[in-house]
Amino acid sequence: MHIDESLGELLRQSKRVTVLTGAGVSAESGVPTFRNAQTGLWAQYDPHQLATPEAFERDPKLVWDWYAWRRELVARASPNPAHHALARLEKMVAHFTLVTQNVDDLHRRAGSENIIELHGNILRTICSRDRQEVRDWADDGNMPPLCPRCGGLLRPAVVWFGEALPPQALSAALAASQTCEVFLSVGTSSLVEPAASLSFAAVRSGATLVEINPDETPVSRIAHFALRGNAADILPRLCDMI
Ligand code: OAD
Repeated sequence: MHIDESLGELLRQSKRVTVLTGAGVSAESGVPTFRNAQTGLWAQYDPHQLATPEAFERDPKLVWDWYAWRRELVARASPNPAHHALARLEKMVAHFTLVTQNVDDLHRRAGSENIIELHGNILRTICSRDRQEVRDWADDGNMPPLCPRCGGLLRPAVVWFGEALPPQALSAALAASQTCEVFLSVGTSSLVEPAASLSFAAVRSGATLVEINPDETPVSRIAHFALRGNAADILPRLCDMI
């Protein structure tokens, strides 16, 4: 895949760059995406049974166990060249914001610093009543474990369907999208709102939109550069051009 030299030049001159990532960035780390027709999590599991507040109310153990399985999966995974390239890019740009829909913590483990986690983080646990983070709990066989402060059920610190995104994260992500010169949409199907609308907000505010994805998405038609391929291949090459 050829990358136009003018994109390297544009990034070299840009003081503000915002990146939105989705599950495709972690695909080469062996973390399954959601919407791949064969291997995607939502092809094998029903999100309504696993990723909604109603599912948790109905069967908290099932939901806890499913997230515990995913937590182990991401803990065993390692950041791939796409994560490392984004950490490298952050050091080259004066004002760099990484907005991620991923809950797998791999950006942080690769060394990225200015990260906005729109959908939370699967490695953290909160009380389902007051939403405060809980770091330790009694290992007394309860599944889900109980909050040591109030006895409420513990749950993963992720955003479920039907739940609002953390308002501060969303407003910071929107501000970063509306003030950047270049916006990269990487490895996301751009089908889930409000994350998907960040690319549109960036373009409306005058940013150059770069999409990195092997497939077309709803933002492809407004992208100024559509780099068709794997993030782990394209992002390191893009960094090398800056
Ligand atoms: P999806 O599974 O919807 O989309 C993954 C995207 O990555 C697709 O467009 C693929 O074409 C692309 N892709 C696959 N492999 C890639 C690679 N190696 N390099 C680059 N791109 C690749 O995942 P998301 O867009 O992240 O939300 O999904 C958004 C949200 O929907 C998730 O955060 C999750 C899910 O339901 C919640 O759980 C709240």
